[in-house]
Amino acid sequence: MHERIRHAGLAERLMSAEQAAELIQPGMTVAMSGFTGAGYPKAVPQALAGRMEKAAAAGSPFRIKVLTGASTAPELDGALAKVEGMELRLPYQSDPNVRERINAGTLNYIDIHLSHVAQHTWFGFFGDINVAVVEATGILEDGRLVPSSSVGNNKTWLDLADKVIVEVNRWQPEALDGMHDIYYGTALPPDRKPIQMTAPDERIGEPYLRVDPAKVIAVVETDAPDRNSPFSPPDEASRQIAAHLMDFFAHEIKRGRLTDRLLPLQSGVGNIANAVLLGLADAGYQGLAAYTEVIQDGMLELLKNGTLRMASATSFSLSPAGIEEFNANVDFYSKRILLRPQEISNHPEIIRRLGCIAMNGMIEADIYGNVNSTHIAGSRIMNGIGGSGDFARNGYLSVFMSPSIAKGGKISGIVPMASHVDHTEHDTMVIVTEQGLADLRGLAPKQRAKLIIERCAHPDFRPLLQDYFDRASRESYGKHTPHLLGDALSWHDRFIRTGTMRPE
Ligand code: COA
Repeated sequence: MHERIRHAGLAERLMSAEQAAELIQPGMTVAMSGFTGAGYPKAVPQALAGRMEKAAAAGSPFRIKVLTGASTAPELDGALAKVEGMELRLPYQSDPNVRERINAGTLNYIDIHLSHVAQHTWFGFFGDINVAVVEATGILEDGRLVPSSSVGNNKTWLDLADKVIVEVNRWQPEALDGMHDIYYGTALPPDRKPIQMTAPDERIGEPYLRVDPAKVIAVVETDAPDRNSPFSPPDEASRQIAAHLMDFFAHEIKRGRLTDRLLPLQSGVGNIANAVLLGLADAGYQGLAAYTEVIQDGMLELLKNGTLRMASATSFSLSPAGIEEFNANVDFYSKRILLRPQEISNHPEIIRRLGCIAMNGMIEADIYGNVNSTHIAGSRIMNGIGGSGDFARNGYLSVFMSPSIAKGGKISGIVPMASHVDHTEHDTMVIVTEQGLADLRGLAPKQRAKLIIERCAHPDFRPLLQDYFDRASRESYGKHTPHLLGDALSWHDRFIRTGTMRPE
């Protein structure tokens, strides 16, 4: 009956999601599994939201603090946000209901680097973790958990939480068993030791998550799918961005700065990232490795055709079609995919040692190479910084990509001054739009500005940027990074007032 719950004591703690949700008290800090639409608890958060709704109707609303791996899905973030059930959320999110409340100022959001979450929790920066709610594929005879489709911060949550609720999801393929590499060697400073990983396919941990069975207060069975959208074919701008990047890689190989095996690839999710991956396949690359965060459908294709020889990540975000493909070829994929805790998938030490090529999307870049990944017009959050900072700061190459215009041409992705800075000019090596690619390595600020305006800006905005840069070069207080502070953010100001950055 409960074939996935093999620990006798824990099988006795089986209960309904509603009963488990009763064990979470108002004001608690609750750490949940989940990284993208994968591996998040699917029943307890919804049951808790139901309880919160009733409590609010009865005049005694309550909220909790929620920590996760990264974004989750409507059954977790959406459900809790809709009933105003979160007083704090961290880290990355991408849920429309959560976003609305953060931007309305009613939900506190702490947007931190994904590699920082586990260690900041260990350092005690977020206080005690009262309860962990973690999805697993199964429970072994000795109580260890077979991890689910994402690992995220689960190791840390299970180690540190006072109490644990496990959701065992029958929908998760049993074939996930053995694909995880959970590292138990992290210690706190000053006792930290080097992490002994020198290649993306090296195993340094064990396949299962440890948990003290005495802490497990509830086990809930579920049979519900992850929520991941299918792989969509790239649009024209994404294809052009990918083509510029392929030219750049070919140039780097010619100059001897890369080989035809490139270096381990990190890539964000979405249309542009997909186009870049497909571009690598079309360009004939073979035997590459990915050291990244998320494995999407597109990566299965690349593993199958040999473009990728392996992929290491923290989350396995497959659509229903991707899951079908995975299940049909389990033996093949399970030898080529490793899932690790996000403190390892995003670890600065490892990223720097492996020399990752970081490729991430952005909202806007300014003419000097400062990048905004998170805020529209300086104040409205979109998603969060995610792992982009972990990889951009520590990678061998850091690339930021975006179409040169947004919202039907009303907004320029290249601006005089970034309205919010997530990645400074010091961490940005390459900017790419569909217009072209600016290689900023080895260039001083004014040289960078010239190149970004020429290569990356949309022709409609290029003369305006050039005019700003020329005036700033003449009139700026200092001539190292010329700016006219009164004018620098006038483009965003105009957008807020009129809905477009184009001059009135
Ligand atoms: N001003 C206003 N809106 C902008 C904008 C700009 N300069 N640039 C993009 N947008 C809007 C788009 O119009 C779109 O809005 P919509 O959802 O209403 O259609 C939305 O932002 C997403 O943009 P899109 O062009 O579809 O790109 P994307 O899906 O690749 O997302 C980011 C771009 C920056 C939001 C996304 O890459 C992100 O969240 N990055 C930060 C985290 C990260 O890098 N993760 C990877 C490692 S974990």
